[in-house]
Amino acid sequence: MGTLNVNGKQVSVNVEDDMPLLWVLRDELGMTGTKYGCGIAMCGACTVHIDGKPVRSCVMPVSAVTGKVITIEGLSKDGSHPVQKAWVKLQVPQCGYCQSGMIMAAAALLKEVKNPSDAQINDAMSNICRCGTYARVREAIHLVAKSA
Ligand code: FES
Ligand code: FES
Repeated sequence: MGTLNVNGKQVSVNVEDDMPLLWVLRDELGMTGTKYGCGIAMCGACTVHIDGKPVRSCVMPVSAVTGKVITIEGLSKDGSHPVQKAWVKLQVPQCGYCQSGMIMAAAALLKEVKNPSDAQINDAMSNICRCGTYARVREAIHLVAKSA
């Protein structure tokens, strides 16, 4: 395996081709903001962007990654992305475990659809939260849409 573009930097990785991107991010590159939840593309805890689209990195073989990867560490330098600000304002997280994946999914949705309906939010946000933050996630997405 050769190089990846992660958060705007070219990085070399020397791993097996079939290693999931999530493992590369966490174990090889030390970016632990992206979480491991289910490992089977169900929970969304491992969501990152590849060329702006949300991708579940636990099932993405690193050799299949051709685009630019953005992780929660690269979404903004200082937590100033509108989604992160809305999350803080409405105190969305509870335990927080699922939240970096939630934020990445919400940021990708809002790039695609400026003012999503509840139905569009429910469709796009298939992330699982064992604490049940769904209502606040929806509220925060509406807040970003209103403030844009
Ligand atoms: S860890 Fe990837 S979807 Fe659950
Ligand atoms: S905030 Fe705890 S799992 Fe979602």
